Amino acid sequence: MFEEAQYFAPVAAQDDGSVVVELAASHPGFADPVYRARRNAIAGLAVHHRRGEPIPAAEYTELEHEIWTLVIRELAVKHAKYATAEYLEGAERLGLPETRIPQLEEVSGLLEPLTGFRYLPAAGLVPLRDFYGVLADGYFHSTQYIRHHSVPFYTPEPDVIHEVIGHANALAHDRYAALYRLAGAAARRVDSEEALEFVSKIFWFTLEFGVMLEGPELKAYGAGILSSYGEIEEFRGMSIRPLDIRAMGTTDYDITRYQDVLFRAESLQHLEDVVGGFWENCDDDSIAKLLTDA
Ligand SMILES: [Fe+2]
Repeated sequence: MFEEAQYFAPVAAQDDGSVVVELAASHPGFADPVYRARRNAIAGLAVHHRRGEPIPAAEYTELEHEIWTLVIRELAVKHAKYATAEYLEGAERLGLPETRIPQLEEVSGLLEPLTGFRYLPAAGLVPLRDFYGVLADGYFHSTQYIRHHSVPFYTPEPDVIHEVIGHANALAHDRYAALYRLAGAAARRVDSEEALEFVSKIFWFTLEFGVMLEGPELKAYGAGILSSYGEIEEFRGMSIRPLDIRAMGTTDYDITRYQDVLFRAESLQHLEDVVGGFWENCDDDSIAKLLTDA
């Protein structure tokens, strides 16, 4: 899940119980009525889902299964070069299907025995407090649709490839899963909107777009990089800064472009110490102080 409202197509529930996803005119699927009908139906599954019930299966076409197959095959080649060892280990443990889109219920079934995480369907934007808060309970909100088949290597929104390839493979590793839970606990602990936004920015610059050193090599562990066919080839050329809580919490980002400022951990242990330690202990006061001193 990405966190910014402008990236999600608005979802409107109608009086008759049906759900409409309002795709922008620039969306690759805007003029495809069949795709739009499927998007509406898939959003409806999330709107009507109740936590604790199985996630209803989304309908995908053969062409959409082929998109998954094509994109994840290409990404796997890049992951071998650019992903951290722990992400690759998570992917190996999880064992996602390679030739069809897995249903979210199936992803939960693979993930829960490994790290206790389960997926929840999201129709569109989930409010920050809820999105982050439930991470503490081992729940991850995820969209269920896949990008339009006309542009397999591009999506203007976080789709099931981002949510599952980017996030579930990381959530399948105990050490990353522990960091997701700590982010959730931090979001639950803080009251002010400023503090919540600060916590979410740390998440953005780490679990979404984080990079770290592995020996002499710069590798990616952030879901946004690892699910983006274009971005994964570019991250080493970005402005790479040292891991710093205040800097991450106060740096603005533009979700509509490749991330040009990235923060580098020196190792996974360093990430756990600095970012895990921050999420474990932060509160409104400590974050207010960081913001005041910035
Ligand atoms: Fe995400």
